[in-house]
Amino acid sequence: MSTDWMRLANEAEVPSPSLLVYADRVEENLRRMIALVGSPARLRPHVKTHKLAPIVTMQVGLGVTKCKCATIAEAEMAARAGATDVMLAMQLVGPNVARWIALMKAFPDVAFSTLVDDLAALAGYSHAAVAAEATIELLIDLDVGFQRSGIAPGPVAIELYRAIATAPGIRPGGLHVYDGQLQQPDRAERAKAADAGFAPAGAMHAELLRLGLPVPRVVCGGTPTFPIHALRPNVECSPGTCVLWDAGYRTKIPDLDFQNAAVLLTRVISRPGTNRLCLDLGHKAVASEMPHPRVIFPALPEAKPVVHSEEHLVLETPRAGEFPVGSVIYGLPWHICPTTALHDKVQVVRNGRVTEQWQVAARARQLTF
Ligand SMILES: Cc1ncc(COP(=O)(O)O)c(C=O)c1O
Repeated sequence: MSTDWMRLANEAEVPSPSLLVYADRVEENLRRMIALVGSPARLRPHVKTHKLAPIVTMQVGLGVTKCKCATIAEAEMAARAGATDVMLAMQLVGPNVARWIALMKAFPDVAFSTLVDDLAALAGYSHAAVAAEATIELLIDLDVGFQRSGIAPGPVAIELYRAIATAPGIRPGGLHVYDGQLQQPDRAERAKAADAGFAPAGAMHAELLRLGLPVPRVVCGGTPTFPIHALRPNVECSPGTCVLWDAGYRTKIPDLDFQNAAVLLTRVISRPGTNRLCLDLGHKAVASEMPHPRVIFPALPEAKPVVHSEEHLVLETPRAGEFPVGSVIYGLPWHICPTTALHDKVQVVRNGRVTEQWQVAARARQLTF
């Protein structure tokens, strides 16, 4: 892989470890996402990947005014950055319901929606909405095989949707259909699984319409499956990772053509032995929820990670002698979403130079609300 595009003209000024975000590449990925779904109105990018207000503003500039979020902080960041339709893909319970209503009231021009899959949670939303004289829009969270959250499409889910449609203070928002379990490298196999997974949700959609219940939207998929769901009429697609792209999806989902837009810059800070390089890229700078490799170093494809501690990553390589202490090394994170969340700021690259920093605002659990 050519790494010329990664190299910074002003790398000597950039502290390590840093997460670099290449603004032109982000925009190109957003354009490719829009092309894959056919129009900006069908795209609801997930902001959890980047947690960055300037990327939300960039997508709004391309006509993509919707977004998906995983936390109330991300939703607040998105609303402040100009998104006008903000969906939180999380059933809210406890004090988070009141936080959500406060956020909605602070941004009356933004259409907010969130999820429900449980009658008791619905009662909690309804009670809080009535008490606050607010209306909460709720999509039903359908479990189509991920088994992380949601309710299986079918008669019980239809009854829950009926309850959503009639609960005081609640407006039905449609169906949420996330199939994060599908990562088949073969496109045809993935498409078959996505179609099979979606089928009961599609049948439920038809039944709800037959019953005369409003279904304003159906929100489907993440990066691996959204080009498949995009072939269905009248659905929105909610990929996240492809905005920045990462080494994991590049390896696992080879049919998708996105550009790596996020790169880690690290330096050799020690050479403990003739075949070892110690980098300042500990697991406080790159996500470590996955087994190694957690970073792919295009300049050192054969290097083997042997020690990973909080601020150190030790690589074993017979080429250690080629990289004196102080050398800059660029790496592609295996999983970008949790990596972004480790960085307070990212370094923004334009025309081969770091020109500014963006605050990773929504890495905080709570902003104002
Ligand atoms: C509910 C939901 N929707 C969409 C996405 C985006 O998926 P991806 O990261 O594959 O683009 C995620 C990712 O975790 C998710 O949890």
